Amino acid sequence: MADIGKDIEKAQKLLETGNVVAIPTETVYGLAANALNPEAVIKIFKIKQRPAFDPLIIHTNDIQKIHDYVVNIPDKAYRLAEAFWPGPLTILLEKKTIIPDIVTSGLNRVAVRIPKHPLSLALLSKLSFPLAAPSANPFGYISPTTALHVNDQLGSSIPYILDGGPCEVGIESTIVGFEGDDPFVYRLGGMSIEQIQNTIGPVTAKAHSTSNPSAPGMLKSHYAPKKPVIIGNIDTLIQQYNGKNFAILSFNKTFDRELAAEQIDLSEKGSLEEAAKNLFTALRTLDNAPVDYILTDFVPDEDLGKAINDRLKRAAAK
Ligand code: TXA
Ligand code: MG
Repeated sequence: MADIGKDIEKAQKLLETGNVVAIPTETVYGLAANALNPEAVIKIFKIKQRPAFDPLIIHTNDIQKIHDYVVNIPDKAYRLAEAFWPGPLTILLEKKTIIPDIVTSGLNRVAVRIPKHPLSLALLSKLSFPLAAPSANPFGYISPTTALHVNDQLGSSIPYILDGGPCEVGIESTIVGFEGDDPFVYRLGGMSIEQIQNTIGPVTAKAHSTSNPSAPGMLKSHYAPKKPVIIGNIDTLIQQYNGKNFAILSFNKTFDRELAAEQIDLSEKGSLEEAAKNLFTALRTLDNAPVDYILTDFVPDEDLGKAINDRLKRAAAK
């Protein structure tokens, strides 16, 4: 298993010598390596068993540094960066040649973000390179929101996990890009479309489930537990699955204890922020519980609810 701790210098030394280290962010834990070193980046793909067609996000700590990595930053991208970084927002920008093709899977845009976590910001401020980091889970599985989640699945493949506690936001960053001057959202996430629109005006959501592997960030089955996830009116599902061994994952609602073997309410007070923060831990817990099905329903489709519903849909897809 990996060493787990809060030693920034240890993480720094490992990263400077081409190793992969798990780092905390406010969204989910990342599996990080020197983005400018192709041999180090290849290790990330191997450890995650991630297909080479699925590009990585690079992380830095300072808006000024991104000029070393990208060109032609649209005005609206600047405004988003100023408003929301550090934070759960990733922006696709035209890359300079210093960014290796393996990072972007050969695309000419690179995904960039400044994460909002004190440990990772401190680490990034000491490094002379950005960190390429996908979520620190095996490809296709639920993203990790604690150091233990990372250790459970990837602990034997990495030397160190920088432990920053449970992730505050709990779902991945929202991904925004531009076609000409027009902004598009390619992945719903921890920054709501409403917040983005308040800053730069109308944006088009392109985030939708697909099984087309040329659009990897939108893969239909992703963030998925091994157990079948069934979405619908929970009362109806309980009738339908009568006699079967199931768990209930609800929002702002509890059901009779005897009805289900396991039950988790994502937010008893009906907060979408709290539900987002709890979502991946809840899915993991139920995936490891002695049940055969996870019955759940969509949350209100507003603010962070849109990203939660997107994750539920992908968790339920086959
Ligand atoms: O919150 C997050 O974004 C976390 C933390 C660690 O920062 N990272 C994360 O990375 O979720 P990952 O690799 O699990 O998801 C990034 C998504 C991928 O699905 C990828 O397809 C998309 O971003 N992406 C990355 N670079 C891209 C590019 N150049 N063009 C289009 N999509 C890109
Ligand atoms: Mg991921």
